[in-house]
Amino acid sequence: MAQTNYVVKNPEDLKKYSFLEQFKDSWRYSEGHHFILISALVLSFLAALFSIIPSFLYGQIITSLSKSSFANIYLYLGAMIICYFLYAFVDRSVDAIIYLNNFQIRRDSNIRFYNHIFRLNLDFFEKASTGNVMSQINSGTSDLAAFNKVFYRKLIMGVFIFISSLVSLILLKASEVAIIGIISVILYQLWAYFTNIKKIELEYLYSLGWDKSQGKIMDYLSRIQLVKTLNIKDKLLNTLRRNYSFVYKAAIKSRNFMNRKVFVEKVLIRIPNAVALLFLAISFMKGEIEIGAIVTAYVIFSKCLDGYVTMQDNYSETLNTRPGMFKLRNLLKNQPTIEEPKNPKKPANWNEISFNNVRFAYSEKEKLALENVSFKIKKGEKLAIVGLSGSGKSTISKLLLRIYDPLTGKIKIGDLSLKEISFADIYNLIKVVPQENELIDTTIYNNLKLGTSKNVAKEEIINALKSAQALDFVKKLPKGINTLVGTNGIKLSGGEKQRICIARALLSNPKVLVLDEATSHLDVITERKVHDELHKLEKDKTIVAITHRISSMYLFDRIIVINEGRIIGEGTHDYLLKTNSIYQRLWRQSKKL
Ligand SMILES: Nc1ncnc2c1ncn2[C@@H]1O[C@H](COP(=O)(O)OP(=O)(O)OP(=O)(O)O)[C@@H](O)[C@H]1O
Ligand SMILES: [Mg+2]
Repeated sequence: MAQTNYVVKNPEDLKKYSFLEQFKDSWRYSEGHHFILISALVLSFLAALFSIIPSFLYGQIITSLSKSSFANIYLYLGAMIICYFLYAFVDRSVDAIIYLNNFQIRRDSNIRFYNHIFRLNLDFFEKASTGNVMSQINSGTSDLAAFNKVFYRKLIMGVFIFISSLVSLILLKASEVAIIGIISVILYQLWAYFTNIKKIELEYLYSLGWDKSQGKIMDYLSRIQLVKTLNIKDKLLNTLRRNYSFVYKAAIKSRNFMNRKVFVEKVLIRIPNAVALLFLAISFMKGEIEIGAIVTAYVIFSKCLDGYVTMQDNYSETLNTRPGMFKLRNLLKNQPTIEEPKNPKKPANWNEISFNNVRFAYSEKEKLALENVSFKIKKGEKLAIVGLSGSGKSTISKLLLRIYDPLTGKIKIGDLSLKEISFADIYNLIKVVPQENELIDTTIYNNLKLGTSKNVAKEEIINALKSAQALDFVKKLPKGINTLVGTNGIKLSGGEKQRICIARALLSNPKVLVLDEATSHLDVITERKVHDELHKLEKDKTIVAITHRISSMYLFDRIIVINEGRIIGEGTHDYLLKTNSIYQRLWRQSKKL
């Protein structure tokens, strides 16, 4: 059974998610873009270099002026202008490539994450709200792109400027000033460390509230009819309003906190400038240093602190992206528990599908949905599985498609275990028309064509619609087969939706067709017509009808009765009617309809 960690609510876990981990994740999620990111890194380094060099030139000009030697001034000025130009050019280049790349990283990581989510087993979707997952992917990948933008464009530039100016100070033998720089940075770093922890917590609360609000609205939008008929629009909007006001309060709290933090930082970071200038002035008065060197050291010192502040500010900016990326990491922790075989075998020449002592529960805590279920479906057989609601009928169809694996026991197609066959082969062989409507908001034609890769001839479509007793009503629709079915097929009746779903399954011409209550919304006469048509199909097509309505049972070769997860009877309609009390009950119910 799968572990589902799709949401981690505890901010404590987030605190353990360090910057280094976040950086590693960003690198991993940006696969395919590493060359661009490294180029941005190199360009950032060059930009930092071109922004430092003018400080030296500036000092040189002052020294030349103080010595009244004007000869080199024009040279220095010319070099300064070239540096400014190169800086501007490189800086804009980093900007351009990072901004261009931003969209691509967002696009690719979005696709990568959706690909991951689509691979997960069904139990993930039973526990997670799809709206919430969608919101997490969208905000997470946008945070990933924002992280890259801040890191490669600004933060790393700050780091280069800070380090290169610190090294320059040491080379200039202004080591006292360099020490002041280092002490200030350590103090500042301590302050930033504690305040950043608080900031992450606030950001996380904000983003959780945001996902919740977004997720809720997306889930309800896809159930619009329910919202309208239960008349819960106002109630929903009020809940949404409350959620948003929570989000708003969290955002304001975070912003106010940031304002106070940045205010203190802006003041703190200017004090060392004054101290450094004092030290330089003392050295000058003692005659240890000349005026040009003071200017150079002071300008570079300021540059050093500026680099550091840029680094810190942008580091702080990356904290905004941390909760989103943390959620992406947690989404990735959900792994498919049902894996495809590495060396799949082809289920050719099978003559029966068998369930052998299959036991299954939906989760550890839940009771068994199937207990020691054993039965065979012969190739070409028309089999019915009947039982009361909740007896385990749909569970059998889900196991047949390997949506879940049994706890114990085996399901086989011919001699092969289901686990030895690729998903594609299972799905090609077996088509299940499920109990729940599975129409997409597009035209009937597109719905029919879903899942069939080949070009379908018009005749095939007409035949499938005919067999599913759908052709007449489709013809009467205003745009015929090109009519849009609306969200969840809202524009069609329950029975019409079911008939389109049956036609879709027929179109892919499966060897085994499983109808899980697929005709439950049809009137008895149309249901019989559908069954009649299906039974007329090729002789070797295996049909399994799962139902608790047994009005057409006389058409089936064999009927299996299931009750509370166990098979309690098997035989023909007449035999079961004589011998099986549950079957008799279902029969009486059907006759009442
Ligand atoms: N996804 C799920 N998670 C947990 N329990 C489930 C899940 N799906 C079904 N069950 C439980 O498993 C049991 C069998 O369900 P199943 O859907 O197979 O019944 P069914 O015979 O198809 O019923 P119906 O005729 O109402 O469709 C029921 O007790 C049901 O509550
Ligand atoms: Mg069912």
